[in-house]
Amino acid sequence: MAEKQKKAHAIMISMPYQGHITPFVSLALNLASKGIAITFVHLESVHHKLSKPHHKPDLFSDARQSGLDIRYATISDGFPLDYDRDLRPELYWTALLQTLPSYVDEFVGNVIRSDPHSLHFLIADTVYVWPAAVARKYNLLNVAFWTSPALVFSLLYHLDLLKERGHFLREDDEAEIDYVPGVGSLRIRDLMSSLSKRGDVTGNYLFKAFQEVKKADFVLHNTVEEVESDTLSALNRYQPTYAVGPIGFSGTSNVAVSKSLHAEVDITKWLGSKPAGSVLYVSFGSVVQTSKGVIGEIAHGLRLSEVNFIWVARAHLTASGDADVLPAGFVEEVEDRGLIVPWCDQISVLSDPAVGGFLTHCGWNSVVESMWCGVPMICFPVTYDQPTNRKLVVNDWEIGIDLGDAATLDREGVAEKIRILMSGDASERFRREAGKVKQMVRDAVEADGSSVNNFHRFVIDLDKKLRST
Ligand code: UDX
Repeated sequence: MAEKQKKAHAIMISMPYQGHITPFVSLALNLASKGIAITFVHLESVHHKLSKPHHKPDLFSDARQSGLDIRYATISDGFPLDYDRDLRPELYWTALLQTLPSYVDEFVGNVIRSDPHSLHFLIADTVYVWPAAVARKYNLLNVAFWTSPALVFSLLYHLDLLKERGHFLREDDEAEIDYVPGVGSLRIRDLMSSLSKRGDVTGNYLFKAFQEVKKADFVLHNTVEEVESDTLSALNRYQPTYAVGPIGFSGTSNVAVSKSLHAEVDITKWLGSKPAGSVLYVSFGSVVQTSKGVIGEIAHGLRLSEVNFIWVARAHLTASGDADVLPAGFVEEVEDRGLIVPWCDQISVLSDPAVGGFLTHCGWNSVVESMWCGVPMICFPVTYDQPTNRKLVVNDWEIGIDLGDAATLDREGVAEKIRILMSGDASERFRREAGKVKQMVRDAVEADGSSVNNFHRFVIDLDKKLRST
């Protein structure tokens, strides 16, 4: 078969957590709707979780029926299926980095051998340490997909600069960092945990991953050019860089694929009974853990604030693994205005007119979804990239308010911040700014919007390179 007729075929593998799976699935759909074949790989444990709420043969069965060429496969992570991977996520992840590369290597080799008439390439999560080596071994183009803001990418990319200036792992919270290309100025307290906290295990793999990502052929970012333009253009000087976010909202495929790892409680009816803008949505994403003390202060703050709220109190919200982390009597006391659920469809909730604010840990997907819906935020970062994401929300875009950190959190402060965001004098300003950002983000995914154009440009550049190597 002539080289020109070969079909481009992506082998995609994300980190096995909701915050990464969601954007990866969206990227797969968007690429498939451009005529690219996909082999989407999940860990067996993720597949097992996903198949429970959805009862589908696999995640992409509907997509395939609608004509998209998305194949689905699972690989082992080397752990038994019933091992509780959420109880100590960082320990599991550190072990996974040892076990996974050989499984991936073998899998990629098999895919290539079984389909010699395609032009394979790799799309892997930027946090993995093995993509460059696998790409080199099988002579594949290597596309890194970064699922956090470009600002976080840039800081990790320039770790050497932070070290040179003595700003790596420093406790001096207020020291200023103003020399990272395209980044403006930020404080040490704005750095992600791996760059600022001694003993943070994420650094063990992130720093290696960011050496490796420098070898990628293309880097895709789940962000929007207009909201991080300086950072993105600085990065583009080092490697071909494309802002294609918010990826979940930018596709042309009409197939709805539920990416949720958990069964969702339908709260539409409850929201329908509440006045417009009156409900605060509270969620700390899918993976982070905090203490029972923090949960208690937030609960009491919600009680004192007297606002309506929905709180996603999912399993493993604290490291103790206790199922019952809320203060005694809390649920009964707030039952006329507060709803506690284990999991919900967050985007539907944020889109509901009753929701007027989001108390969030600032996971990037939550931030992006809140921006998409024009909902201002109260920011309580716990770890990872969340302190940096808060900086963007609070300082750069001014669409949120800072709740501080666990060490200083107290219930009166929580109640006061909730009142400021939901009904205080500043509330109007936050809503106005959130409305402007919402427009910017939505424009990016309109026809001729920046993310649509960047995605198109990426597909062309990729195709050219695939056919010339
Ligand atoms: C992880 C990291 O913790 C975060 O710092 C990083 O930016 C992304 O990866 P996570 O903590 O799960 O993510 O937070 P987030 O990025 O906000 O992703 C959570 C996802 O779960 C969102 O897409 C959200 O819509 C979804 N979700 C959450 C639900 O659908 N229902 C819920 O009830 C709660």
